[in-house]
Amino acid sequence: MNKKISLSGIQPSGRPHIGNYFGMMKQLISHQEEFDVYALIVDYHAMKSVRNPAEMKENIINVVLDYLALGLDSKKVTFFKQSDVSEHTELCWIFDTITTMPYLMRAHAFKDAQAKNKEIDVGTFNYPVLMAADILLYNPDIIPVGADQKQHVEISRNIAEKFNNTFGETFKLPEAMIMKEMAVIPGTDGRKMSKSYNNTIPLFAEYEEIKKCVMSIVTDSGGGIPQNVFAIHKLFRNENELKKIYEEKAGKYKELKEMLIEDLEKFIAPLRERRKEFAKDIPKALAVLREGGEKAKKVASKKMDEIREKIGVKVY
Ligand code: TRP
Repeated sequence: MNKKISLSGIQPSGRPHIGNYFGMMKQLISHQEEFDVYALIVDYHAMKSVRNPAEMKENIINVVLDYLALGLDSKKVTFFKQSDVSEHTELCWIFDTITTMPYLMRAHAFKDAQAKNKEIDVGTFNYPVLMAADILLYNPDIIPVGADQKQHVEISRNIAEKFNNTFGETFKLPEAMIMKEMAVIPGTDGRKMSKSYNNTIPLFAEYEEIKKCVMSIVTDSGGGIPQNVFAIHKLFRNENELKKIYEEKAGKYKELKEMLIEDLEKFIAPLRERRKEFAKDIPKALAVLREGGEKAKKVASKKMDEIREKIGVKVY
């Protein structure tokens, strides 16, 4: 029986937090049981914000260690980086020639970037087209993304349709699978957990760091139940059971926070230790990525061959 294909793009953007985990990372790991998964580190996409080679390198290595520590199984997932498969940028160009500027100018991400920065780079403008190439090379069925990426998947579908209409049936139209939890995981100040708000709890935090983060959670006293503490805590325990405990200990913020610290530590410690093990042999960890790249390259180059045939450049 053929499994459905799921494809995810991973930004190599520094240290993940528990919001990233419950939003996307956890789902990606669980998808490996159900789907044929392609997971690519989108290092070329990341160039729009990372322009320091040492930082880029470090970010790539960190993402690999993070996912291995979480249990990514390279036998089940084709785990690779975009820059190892040159077909992505090649197909991006072909798509560029069938995509209009007014169409891309309607993208939310472009409009936001333009509102902030008038000297917007071509890469940022073209970002959704490279993403379409990432996706369409592998004929995936579903694309798990946060709500903010829904429009980008829509653009991929439109580009696929445009190509199919122009050159004949070539690409399958992918479906976005919107991961709802993404937006509602609260940070230590009650707003959405996000690095830019400085309100995160790092996924691989050391004990002392967990303590510091939890102690900094803003406690708003709604009937003695600290809502922000509860909202994070319920990710780690059954909600009803937790409600009872919080009602019994109403007003005892310190005690409730200490309990959350212990629950976080229980969850994080094994992941943190696994990550340290993988970090002892970085070349070995990176070999997983290289082999994933070789696997992806085979699929992508076969697809590219078909595309070249379709557009008529394949004369021998
Ligand atoms: N644009 C996505 C983001 O910002 C990352 C991404 C790039 C992606 N290529 C992809 C996601 C392909 C899914 C599929 O998060």
